[in-house]
Amino acid sequence: MKLRPAAILPLVFVAATLVATFAQCGDGRAATAPGAGVPPMPATQEPKPTVTVPPKDSIRLLVSGAMSGRLEPCGCASGQLGGLARRMQHIGEMRNYDLLLEGGNLVETNTELDLMKLYTAKSVLFDMQHRYDALGVGAKDLLLPPAEYAAFLGDAPLVATNLAHKTEGWPGKPFIEKDVRGVKVRVVSFLLALPKELTGAESPVSLLANAEAWQAARAGADAATRFVVMAHGDDVQIRALIPQLQPAPDLVVGVDQGYIEPTAAATPVAGVPLVFTGIRGRVLLSLSLWRDASGPRAVGELIPLPGSRTVPGGGGDPNVRDAIVRHRHEVKDGNVLENMARQLPTPNGAVYVGSEGCKGCHPTAYGVWAKEGSKHFNAWKTLEVAEKDPTRYGWPVTAYPDCVSCHVVGHREQSGFLSFADSPGLAGVGCERCHGPGSDHVAAPEKNRLGLIGGVDKSMLCIQCHDFEQSPNFLFGDKWPVIQHGREPNQIKK
Ligand code: HEC
Ligand code: HEC
Ligand code: HEC
Ligand code: HEC
Repeated sequence: MKLRPAAILPLVFVAATLVATFAQCGDGRAATAPGAGVPPMPATQEPKPTVTVPPKDSIRLLVSGAMSGRLEPCGCASGQLGGLARRMQHIGEMRNYDLLLEGGNLVETNTELDLMKLYTAKSVLFDMQHRYDALGVGAKDLLLPPAEYAAFLGDAPLVATNLAHKTEGWPGKPFIEKDVRGVKVRVVSFLLALPKELTGAESPVSLLANAEAWQAARAGADAATRFVVMAHGDDVQIRALIPQLQPAPDLVVGVDQGYIEPTAAATPVAGVPLVFTGIRGRVLLSLSLWRDASGPRAVGELIPLPGSRTVPGGGGDPNVRDAIVRHRHEVKDGNVLENMARQLPTPNGAVYVGSEGCKGCHPTAYGVWAKEGSKHFNAWKTLEVAEKDPTRYGWPVTAYPDCVSCHVVGHREQSGFLSFADSPGLAGVGCERCHGPGSDHVAAPEKNRLGLIGGVDKSMLCIQCHDFEQSPNFLFGDKWPVIQHGREPNQIKK
């Protein structure tokens, strides 16, 4: 297998481009700890003896999946992977592929913002220079309003093999067939569980039996037709699906939210190579498919999508970047931040009062939180600075809900952050972001106690924001001492 010339993407981690056949590898699940980026490996350590060279006429796929609304990484820490601009730039540089496949789950939730992201993603994947050949449907996509989803993706090659959808004009097809140098390739997509919101009798969607849907997707295919199955579910569900598909497909691509760092090595399940796309669109999988006497074969290469360290904003396809910046401005102009605010109940039913309201009785804790250089205190300021810095952002981050959510108190909840003009006291990571809204407590502290929001464990609270992408090296034991605070001496009950 040929590794791509280093000149194409000098920052690609060589170690991640390990080549392995499914026959030679055990479990394909990555053992890598979340966020532990793959360290570069000297070229001399490549596992030469086990490399299988795919035949020249093998079918070459570039596969991605589970973008979950990450049009680009948030940029809170350096070295984050993913983003559509980098992906499309890479695709443009990779000349020798036959088909581009996207598993689906393009969005994370079903807000107004997600619909706008869907629209942007759709225009990047289907209306620009490198058009995707097939898009699967994931559980998260199904939670979007179906009429809008159908309207946006009306002419996209949407494949949803085992879904029956009542929405008129629903664009999902049982399979997409492509001709690759004289060989027919059919792409199908299975959803292995409906989201619970869509399981009731009123639901516009239902799942067909897998075996039956598979037969329908095979109808009229000849023996030489290759089948690529995209499967949405967890690892167990996906592995259980494969033996149900008879005759067997040539490849199964798992779109499983649990696979943070996939490997390119295909695992054989019932003789079928199985690979995973990873999450948040952080990587592309480059796969070669062929058949030999033993059945379907696949070798893969994992292509992480790091940003450029020299180009402002991390680089990527400039047209895609423009499309994303346009989206950012539309979000601001549409006032989406305020539209999305104050929709949900607060965690304890009380009202947010702002950190100033805690100061009087908790002067020491307040002092720790507001001390010079306190990042939580300044988290809003950080966004304002980022917004004005064209080398880092230069677009309206203070109006973008995904940025604001972790840098303020209670956005989306009743009485929570609306805008800086409306709620300056809730800008930044204030007391109530961790302890919950304080109105009842302020009125009667002994009677209405505050704990940690949601009653979670301390370290679980932190990783709601300090996750493997925002804070790759976050350790509670190191970071709690930096912000440590507690009761006043007069509040400690003997
Ligand atoms: C999931 C929560 C989360 C989201 C979403 C988020 N941030 Fe952050 N951000 C953090 C955390 C946590 C840190 C602190 C990282 C650290 O130092 O460990 C941070 C730090 C930062 C920093 C300071 C770090 C630096 O390198 O200067 C900037 C700037 C920033 N975020 C901007 C943004 C922007 C812009 C967005 C939206 C595109 C965003 N953030 C979305 C949680 C988040
Ligand atoms: C980033 C999250 C976070 C922020 C912001 C925060 N706290 Fe805390 N606070 C904690 C954690 C975690 C604890 C420790 C809880 C424990 O030990 O179980 C704590 C403990 C406390 C305690 C002692 C609780 C007890 O049961 O002994 C008080 C009082 C307190 N915080 C008040 C405040 C005030 C007032 C502010 C704002 C000025 C604030 N906190 C800001 C996370 C936070
Ligand atoms: C009027 C004074 C007063 C105000 C204002 C006040 N607290 Fe308290 N707080 C107390 C007292 C007193 C205790 C100790 C209660 C006890 O142990 O009986 C306390 C305890 C706490 C605790 C420990 C857990 C508990 O409830 O016993 C947390 C956390 C806390 N306060 C957070 C906050 C936050 C956040 C704010 C601002 C929204 C705030 N407090 C505002 C007086 C106040
Ligand atoms: C609501 C989201 C959120 C939560 C929850 C949160 N943080 Fe943060 N934290 C941030 C953001 C955002 C920043 C960076 C702000 C900036 O740079 O302006 C940050 C920065 C920090 C920093 C300074 C940067 C560094 O790594 O030294 C520390 C320390 C920290 N957080 C500790 C904690 C701890 C401990 C917890 C859990 C008790 C916690 N945070 C919970 C959002 C959060």
